[in-house]
Amino acid sequence: MSQNPEPNRIIAIDGPAASGKSTLAQRLAKHLGYLYFDTGVMYRAATLAGLRAGIPPGDEKRITKLAFELSIDVRPPSKADGRPYDVIVNGEDVTWEIRSEAVDANVSRVSAYAGVRQAMTVIQREIGRRGKVVMVGRDIGTVVFPEADLKLYLDATVEARAERRYKERMARGEQVEYEEVLDSMRARDHIDSSRDLAPLQPAEDAVILDSTHLGVEETLERALGLVQA
Ligand code: CDP
Repeated sequence: MSQNPEPNRIIAIDGPAASGKSTLAQRLAKHLGYLYFDTGVMYRAATLAGLRAGIPPGDEKRITKLAFELSIDVRPPSKADGRPYDVIVNGEDVTWEIRSEAVDANVSRVSAYAGVRQAMTVIQREIGRRGKVVMVGRDIGTVVFPEADLKLYLDATVEARAERRYKERMARGEQVEYEEVLDSMRARDHIDSSRDLAPLQPAEDAVILDSTHLGVEETLERALGLVQA
């Protein structure tokens, strides 16, 4: 049970890639006047920094050192190009670079490292403790904030999720094949759910929502119903 005087001060939303977590969390946060915090950004930032530094993604020691030294800032959007926020890593705007195929292909490997998770979890807890936050990720309800006031686990079939990601990429003008997106998503799902540390799984007390056939508004309505319940 929560010790918080105000209900739903921390809302945790977990689930696999492109299950609709970010869209739901952004809307929910806006509706409630809460901070929206996407923890995936941090793992993506560490992965991009590693790739840029030429560190092989398999080099756990160097990647971990880099994760601890990284400066990651998330700020209100500076451009109207569809970005929900600016992601600034070591002073540079990498908002779109962290969404690249190269990052997608390596992020699950990097985020399975204990040291990387430790570095990121400390920051996530600092931010979450201030309250009034909708935090999105893979392990928010299970590891980062097991005491969260409300835990949602958003799911959808891998085909539906790959279709969404494929459309997002095409809309950004990228040349991608649906099959490639599907394969990459399956690979990421597998690593994220089978890793030893903080694997992707619903918390025991999470409410599971399947967004395969649920629109954005319906998902938001269900979530708001749970917040008010
Ligand atoms: O946006 P999408 O759902 O594709 O992914 P993301 O939320 O940006 O997360 C990218 C990757 O970071 C995931 O596939 C996980 O490997 C990792 N991650 C994690 O391990 N723990 C979190 N709390 C958030 C992301």
